[in-house]
Amino acid sequence: MITIHELRRKFIEFFKTKNHVEISGKSLIPENDPSVLFTTAGMHPLVPYLLGEAHPAGKRLVDYQKCIRTGDIEDVGDESHLTFFEMLGNWSLGDYFKEESIAFSWEFLVSPRWLALDPAKISVTVFAGDENAPQDEVSAQAWRRLGVPEDRIAYLPASDNWWATGPTGPCGPDTEIFYWTGRGLPPPGSNKGSDPKNWMEIWNNVFMEFNRVDGKTLLRLPAQNVDTGMGLERTVAMLQGRRSVYETEAFTPILRSLEKLSGKTYGAPGNDPELDRSFRIIADHVRTATFILGDPKAVLPSNVGAGYVLRRIIRRAVRHGRKLGIEGAFLSGPAGGIVENYAGPYPELMENRERILSELKREEEKFLETLQKGEHEFDKMLPNLLKNPQRVMSGRLAFKLYDTYGFPIELTEELAAENGLKVNRQEFDEAYKKHQELSRAGSEQMFKGGLADHSEVSTRYHTATHLLHKALRIVLGDHVAQKGSNINTERVRFDFSHPAPMTKEEIAKVEAIVNEQIHRDLPVTMEMMSLEEAKASGAIALFGEKYEAVVKVYSIGDFSKEVCGGPHVERTGSLGRFRIQKEQSSSAGVRRIYGILE
Ligand code: ALA
Repeated sequence: MITIHELRRKFIEFFKTKNHVEISGKSLIPENDPSVLFTTAGMHPLVPYLLGEAHPAGKRLVDYQKCIRTGDIEDVGDESHLTFFEMLGNWSLGDYFKEESIAFSWEFLVSPRWLALDPAKISVTVFAGDENAPQDEVSAQAWRRLGVPEDRIAYLPASDNWWATGPTGPCGPDTEIFYWTGRGLPPPGSNKGSDPKNWMEIWNNVFMEFNRVDGKTLLRLPAQNVDTGMGLERTVAMLQGRRSVYETEAFTPILRSLEKLSGKTYGAPGNDPELDRSFRIIADHVRTATFILGDPKAVLPSNVGAGYVLRRIIRRAVRHGRKLGIEGAFLSGPAGGIVENYAGPYPELMENRERILSELKREEEKFLETLQKGEHEFDKMLPNLLKNPQRVMSGRLAFKLYDTYGFPIELTEELAAENGLKVNRQEFDEAYKKHQELSRAGSEQMFKGGLADHSEVSTRYHTATHLLHKALRIVLGDHVAQKGSNINTERVRFDFSHPAPMTKEEIAKVEAIVNEQIHRDLPVTMEMMSLEEAKASGAIALFGEKYEAVVKVYSIGDFSKEVCGGPHVERTGSLGRFRIQKEQSSSAGVRRIYGILE
């Protein structure tokens, strides 16, 4: 039976036989893209290349990419939704288009040498056409030629068969491939359009030839590209004939370890469905948290952005752990198993093992303390609550527990129920909504995932970051190494290794050097070379970053040379004036600078 690790390898091998170059997947945390918190699809790190930049590895690429989608976090727990998943993808950057892409997919799926699926159990969808683009007859014709019968081809509207990076960015019609999960063979006439329940999506081939620029206007991209995505966990579940991804080896070791911790059995006959759901939620969330904390650009639990999502999933896992009767911090056990299971394809997990385990434990303990405090506060309220003849706890009080002590409403409801009380949930929800709107409009927006908007402003900050990096090395010394950077349209945040706070004079010197280079209006040029050549030429490369065999090296006049994916401005004169707004500690031995362009 094919395993997750085997399917990943097979996919890569197949596309290598079709002259694709394997590129390494990228971080889960997109750098320099303020519009999303996590990498949400395999194509996400490739947006600049879909928009027309040359990719150093060529025009045919294949990879596996870690992805996180948290938009449907509340759905997790059913049999198919995951917050973390792997996406297998092949790309054509202006090389082959619909016909070849479809033929590759078909061969990989049905050839006895590869997946050997039964062609009679495959159906497809193609774009039905609208004001943006005509019905996709080219794709339909390509399927027919491969022998897919007419009744297995469904024409569906943009809601099904148009894929976009986000409100703006590369997009286009797609063709999706489904596998029959019903009994026996699919009856005549059955396809995703007529019988959506019994068909499971395994692959999406997007034909990206458009760029949506202002949320409305579609422009043609410089080239016709192909972006495909195959969900690894789902496809393996299907190939193994499982009902659910949770029955594959991506999850069974986690579930076994939760069984040991709880003394309960997942999926045992007679189990309360809610109990099994808690098992699945923990299994999904601990895997996601492990991959976030094990990422080279890991965020830590916090109250904003990606750190807030991480906090939320760890806390949700802890809450469901309590439902299984697990007391105390417990996530580092299953997390250790995940690290081992994925050490081959994701060596970064092993490298960051200590951080994964210790941060999980720290966050769990913090939350358990919160829970204790909340319970204590509830107990103090209880005598008064019991005086209420309607036996109702006001939503306002429940919200106070949430707002002041971080105590989750579900737990308030549980405690209330244990004492014969009901919580006025509507009143709570209203207070909660108001609070959400006020305090987290920004990060909630970003949960939904979206575009990579390489706006001009971001590009300017990107070039300024290279100037800053080099200036810091000149003023402070060669020990300065970039530890992270984050750009939005207001500022760059730059972390670097340096043992002491910078003096006022040092800050002034760095600013002066950067501004001098801007004033010189230096040209920014790019060359492609092997990583060895790049290093030999004196280019700065980030330690711990994964690079392709061939990399891009950006030079800013004679001043700076860095390995980097771009994009950059053409000349430094367009940057304006650079100022360091703040210099502070980031962590032990790491300083943080906020810099702005005025
Ligand atoms: N980018 C496409 C997807 O995520 C392949 O489904």
